[in-house]
Amino acid sequence: MALTKDTRITLNDGNSIPIIGLGTYASPDVPKNLGEDATKIAIDLGYRHIDCAYIYGNEVQIGNAIRAKISDGTVKREDIFYTGKLWCTFFSPELVRKGLEKSLQDLQLDYLDLFIMHWPFSIKPEGAEEPSNPDKAFAYDDVDFYATWEALEKCKDAGLVKSIGVSNFNKRQLERLLSKPGLKYKPVCNQVECHIYLSQSKLQAYCNSKSIILVAYSVLGSHRDKNWVDLSTPVLLEDPILANVAAKYNRSPAEVAMRFILQKGIVVLAKSFTAARLKQNLGVFDFELNPEDMKTLEELDKNLHYGLFKQMKQHPEYPFHDEY
Ligand SMILES: NC(=O)c1ccc[n+]([C@@H]2O[C@H](COP(=O)([O-])OP(=O)(O)OC[C@H]3O[C@@H](n4cnc5c(N)ncnc54)[C@H](OP(=O)(O)O)[C@@H]3O)[C@@H](O)[C@H]2O)c1
Repeated sequence: MALTKDTRITLNDGNSIPIIGLGTYASPDVPKNLGEDATKIAIDLGYRHIDCAYIYGNEVQIGNAIRAKISDGTVKREDIFYTGKLWCTFFSPELVRKGLEKSLQDLQLDYLDLFIMHWPFSIKPEGAEEPSNPDKAFAYDDVDFYATWEALEKCKDAGLVKSIGVSNFNKRQLERLLSKPGLKYKPVCNQVECHIYLSQSKLQAYCNSKSIILVAYSVLGSHRDKNWVDLSTPVLLEDPILANVAAKYNRSPAEVAMRFILQKGIVVLAKSFTAARLKQNLGVFDFELNPEDMKTLEELDKNLHYGLFKQMKQHPEYPFHDEY
């Protein structure tokens, strides 16, 4: 089946997710209204999946954009697939719904399409939402994610979210969640870093075997925000082999980097606040990589994580200590 911008993948709870999503994270120095403007442009262009999070600090603006596009008749609420993320300071079961309600209030929406645990571990609720110093570790808490998950299941039952999932979970953590006694709903997805340098083939195979879809972030090589990313890493969109493949198809490196992930059956998130790039990135649906070029790109894998999130490394549940 040919992929289009309207293609959706069915989730294990019967709902479905559009295969391309707009990323909305930007560094704190980027004015929040740029995300609002970009989201409106993206919806006009046909993006229907918006990925955001409480910790991005921009749900008010992204909500404004979505509601503006509903008000002017471009879309209906049910056309939009909005993903929110439960930040780690809200993992205590009594705080989960409060965290969700804060997002809903900021967005001025009645429900989220997908709500995911942002990380597999908790952070103390008091004053540790963002690091003032990127070299300083977060104040860790020890809430068991079993309790967090049960509270998320209740949010789904209450109709406040359509689907629930996780992000940044490794295989061991997924296995543990799936073996939770009394599990009512399986996570529908695991949102993880995934691109030509980090193919996630083993994690994808495991998730496929459990009917959990992968959603890829940093497909274009990340936002390279110095607070989160190791800036000594190579710039993905400048890779010479990627450039060769792109030239062959007369496409940009960004389009080929995204197309590669889409053809692996993985949902792609891509962030741009630039109108021309938002448009260009939808060009991924106008060509197809042949098996030989897919293989060439697969061989670029070097298990490179741009997002090391070093403030979290001390935590025993930091997911990237495991192979995958
Ligand atoms: N779950 C998690 O823990 C997690 C972690 C990281 C990210 N995410 C989500 O995933 C989204 C995407 O990941 P990301 O923000 O790391 O970065 P990304 O999508 O890999 O890359 C974004 C960067 O690529 C640039 N760009 C976009 N289109 C381009 C094009 N056609 N040509 C050249 N450059 C282009 C953007 O610049 P302009 O904006 O200037 O165009 C921006 O600097 C985030 O926004 C967020 O929603 C989730």
